[in-house]
Order: sequence, then C-alpha cells, then structure tokens
Amino acid sequence: MSANTTSNSQNNGNGAGLIPRPIEDDPNDVTTDEEDGPGQLSDSSLEELQDNDFPAYFTERNGRLYPSEANSVYSLPVDTPEQERYTVNHIMLKRILGVDYQGATDSALTPDPTRSRRVLDLCCGNGKWVLDMAVHAPHAQFVGVDIVPIATRYPPDNVQFELLDVNSDLRWDNGHFDLVHARDVLMAVKDYDVLLHEVARLLRPGGQFLSVEWSNQLAVHISFPGNIEDIAPATVHFFDTVHHILAELGVDIDGSRVSANITASNYFTDTNIRQIYVPVGTWSQNAQMDEIGSSFRTALKRMARGFRQMFLDYGLSDDEVDVLTAAFIQEIQMVDGLVAFVHITSAERR
Ligand SMILES: C[S@@+](CC[C@H](N)C(=O)[O-])C[C@H]1O[C@@H](n2cnc3c(N)ncnc32)[C@H](O)[C@@H]1O
Repeated sequence: MSANTTSNSQNNGNGAGLIPRPIEDDPNDVTTDEEDGPGQLSDSSLEELQDNDFPAYFTERNGRLYPSEANSVYSLPVDTPEQERYTVNHIMLKRILGVDYQGATDSALTPDPTRSRRVLDLCCGNGKWVLDMAVHAPHAQFVGVDIVPIATRYPPDNVQFELLDVNSDLRWDNGHFDLVHARDVLMAVKDYDVLLHEVARLLRPGGQFLSVEWSNQLAVHISFPGNIEDIAPATVHFFDTVHHILAELGVDIDGSRVSANITASNYFTDTNIRQIYVPVGTWSQNAQMDEIGSSFRTALKRMARGFRQMFLDYGLSDDEVDVLTAAFIQEIQMVDGLVAFVHITSAERR
C-alpha cells in the first residue's frame, strides 16, 4: 500500500486526490534519489486519494472506526476522539520537552548546504508532531506515514503524508533519511526488531533514530508513599488485562524495553536514554504540571474506553468491560500521585 493523502500541484488542492497505483520500474528513469527531490511529490509510485477512497481505509464497529487493513494488529480506534487524544498527548509532551525533545533532533537536522534534510515519522497519526517540526526545522523535508488517512490533506510544502504499513518494507532507498521518529507506535508494530532493521536501512550513517514510548503501567510519584499495586489496584488490573490480550495478539507495548532493543540491535551507537514522568490528575504543586495532569487524565480515560472492542473481541462480556473500565477511570479520578513514564531513546546509525 502506498498512497499520498496530500494535495499537490497536480491536483490544485480542490479536494480530488491521488490514489495508489502499482509501483512499476521504469527502465528509462535515470533520476537518482537526490534528483527526485526531498518532498517526493514527483514520485510516480504515489497517487492522491480520492474523496470516495477514504471510507475504504476504515471499518466501523459499535460506533467506532478502526483501520480496515486486514494485517493490522492495532487494537485502538482511529476516529476523532482518538485523534484528539493524540493531540492532547502531543501538546503535553511539547510543553514538557519542546517539539524537538530539548534539542534531541539538532544533530540530525543541522542544515546541509548541498541538500535538504529528510525526516520520516512512523505511525504519524494526525501528524501533529510532523507539522510542528516542519515549522521548527523549515529547511527539512518531512514525511509522515500511517495506515489510515487521518492527517491533513493540505500540509505545508515541506510536509507529505502517506499511507503505509510500518510492518512492511518501506519504499525508500537505503540511507534516505537523516532522522526517523517513532512515537507511541508499539501497539501498531508486529515485531519491533524487524522495524528497527527497516529503520536502520532507511537511515544514512550518522542519521538518528528517535523513539518515544510510554511505559505499560502507571506508577506512583516518588513524593507519595506506597506502591502502585496497593494504591491503585484497579489500574494495575486494567493494564495487566490489556497486556495479556495484546501479548496473545503478539504485540508488546512495554516502552521501557525499547532502548534495550535498540542497543541490542547493533545498528546504532551513541544511544541516549531519558525517562520523564507525566502526572495523572491534579495533584502536582506545579501549576503547569497540574494542567498537564488534568489533560492527561482525560486522555487516559479516553484511551481506556477505546479498548472496549478489544476486550469484547477477547471474550469479556459488556458488563465485565464496564466494570474493568469504570474501576480504572474512578481510580485515576480519586488517587493522587499517579504518573506515567515516557521513555525517550535517541541513537545514531552506525
Ligand atoms: C497511538 S497513535 C500515535 C500517533 C502519533 N505517533 C503520535 O504520537 O501522536 C498510533 C498510530 O499508529 C497508526 N498505525 C496503526 N497500525 C499501523 C501500521 N501498521 N502502519 C502504520 N501506522 C499504523 C494508527 O493509525 C495511529 O495513528
């Protein structure tokens, strides 16, 4: 699958679009990757989606929209409420760390007088990170890929959104990108080591991989007594249930393990690992963290409701799902001191 969700000069941005067309090798095409231009809008393997193609990418179940791609392992919806959750998470992380994670992208994006820097965002969702980074680094060209067309069709000139399955071989040549960013992708990935292999192939030597993943369980902030099992048992049970089901689907969402995978892969050097916390709720003494905690709690409730179909598919009854979800939501509403950890790993391609 390779389709462009954006409008471009061939389309005049009038709402009609390009649709996927089979990739054919043209023996007369002697353009190199460099000559193709960074934005790839001239890429003949891409066609813009037509308005009436959009529904085909979604399946509706109990009033929520999911990716229709048969091979997808992704268990959460991809509809407007979910996209709002991505936006909340994006704004939160941006407020805490800045869109570039406090300069973590600087070395990969140092302007090069000979060509534009190129950035790939895997599972870009509604594209908020790409769009903000495109302002932060206007000299770079950005591509965001996702399995569903949920990013804007009218991005700025240095941004393109494409429909691609990250569990497949991606269409670019070896060493094409300076920076690959993958945030909150674990639920989408069948085998993280395979993805790392592809990321390593796509990065030039010295290029950078930036992974940002959430821990798979909430924790208790160091300034509060007690452990999570005692303070928030319904929360632990909720996430344990999620992990159990995802593990049966072959999906591992433990963000704390990603840096070890990156190191073990041997593709990367200069691995830099950071861990920050995000408060759940309004218990922080710091006004900004309090606001963030309030938004994050809302986002977590939304995520919890998003797992409903996965629980039902696993065999839980409606009542069981209601109890599991309500207990978790009530707990994060009542219990002070809860946090989620974010694991930020930056590594350089050997
Ligand atoms: C939790 S969202 C994260 C979005 C974005 N990275 C962010 O941080 O805001 C996960 C995204 O992965 C996408 N996704 C799921 N399966 C995918 C696949 N096989 N290939 C590409 N994207 C996928 C979903 O559509 C969704 O937009």
